[in-house]
Amino acid sequence: EVPGMTKAEKLTALAQIAEQSPEARALGTLRETMVFAVGSPDAEIMFIGEAPGSEEERQQEPFVGPAGQKLTGIIKAMGLDRSEVYISNICKFRPAMENQGWSNRPPTTVEMKTCLPYIFTEISIVQPKVLVALGKTAAEGLGLSGPVSKLRGQFYEVQGLPTMVTFHPSYILREEKLADGGRVAKRQVWEDMLQVMEK
Ligand code: URA
Repeated sequence: EVPGMTKAEKLTALAQIAEQSPEARALGTLRETMVFAVGSPDAEIMFIGEAPGSEEERQQEPFVGPAGQKLTGIIKAMGLDRSEVYISNICKFRPAMENQGWSNRPPTTVEMKTCLPYIFTEISIVQPKVLVALGKTAAEGLGLSGPVSKLRGQFYEVQGLPTMVTFHPSYILREEKLADGGRVAKRQVWEDMLQVMEK
């Protein structure tokens, strides 16, 4: 690390290290295109997801597909813009099944572990006021295990920062198709975000 580097320069350097590291690709089990993070290096809120999907891979930006549009809506409802928060993922490469037309799959434990140093370094560079883990995989990566329904609604400490676990936006998308139109899930996520906004 070079003294005097800005947060943005540090994040760019970290992304370059991740892109060049075979470990970050979990020794070839993940796809090649890196999707690192998006948003402000000075953000007060950091959202952490699981891994990029196909649309994220295509645009090389986290949370730009259907789940991403949900997340963008939540951020807007918080009175913020995507450019004012920091949005990242545990995995920097898309976990996919080559023999099944590159369809998405969850990251393996090994794949998650290889990427964890990056997210932890991002947290220490950005030093936001609060972290939001989106879904079970993100929570697990940050050391919080259990069902999201049990973890959500309260703060945990991760790297000295208050950390909220809430439902992944893709869970809201699934719930919206059910009888209540996802009202319970949406209310719970919003309650979690109200707590986040108070930090
Ligand atoms: N889901 C995630 O967890 N991350 C993304 O970037 C997109 C969808």
